[in-house]
Amino acid sequence: MATLLLIHGFPLDRRIWTPVMDRLPSAISVLAPDLPGCGATPLPPVTLTMDEYARHLLQLMDGRGVPKFYVAGHSMGGYILFAMLRLAPERIAGGALVSSRALPDNDEGRKTRETVAQRVEKEGAGFLAGTMPEKAVGNEPPPGVLDTLRAVIRDAQPRGVAAAARAMAARPDATPQLGAIACPIVAFAGRQDKIVPPAESEAMAKGIPGAKLVWCERSGHVPMLEEPDLVARELAGLVK
Ligand code: MLT
Repeated sequence: MATLLLIHGFPLDRRIWTPVMDRLPSAISVLAPDLPGCGATPLPPVTLTMDEYARHLLQLMDGRGVPKFYVAGHSMGGYILFAMLRLAPERIAGGALVSSRALPDNDEGRKTRETVAQRVEKEGAGFLAGTMPEKAVGNEPPPGVLDTLRAVIRDAQPRGVAAAARAMAARPDATPQLGAIACPIVAFAGRQDKIVPPAESEAMAKGIPGAKLVWCERSGHVPMLEEPDLVARELAGLVK
């Protein structure tokens, strides 16, 4: 049975994959863990980096006796998929990059991450639950999506959120590795994404040999919640 690992983004947890998981065929073994410092997974006593998240997930799959598997990463989850493809390309059977990009942060972006990290450490992640959900969705989010995002972000671990923000700020440029990616890739771009510009997702997809680009016309940054039928259908097509 093929295994599909679903990696959530920032500052979220495994619950954002629930609508897609509900729609995937039962012939696929699906795993959607909380990343370290997110959801129910404790923050480890190390500096988190994209490589560190990737190693954690590779070990998780070792523990389950799964040598080779498919991976879908949402946004920061996509940055982690790039790290997995750098560290252990032979273990990735195919990948999906959902609302993600290859480019790293610029200086201004890194400063903003640090500001967010310090504020979350001081006052908790509650303010993000007030600001991020509206920014994360397209013009007409399906009922319940904003509530799901608010609930997930309100539950976030402040120190885990700060660590993730700093890990994203320090992530390397994945552009140089795109041309060498040898497994099948599906990239999803939300036409109304206000967090990761869809043009950056498109450029990423164009740089990967043979990658399929799927436009999510009714989505902002979270197509797995906004268009779960489409995302599940494409993931089912990727996983052989
Ligand atoms: C995410 O959705 O994981 C993050 O918003 C991505 C980012 O801020 O670069």
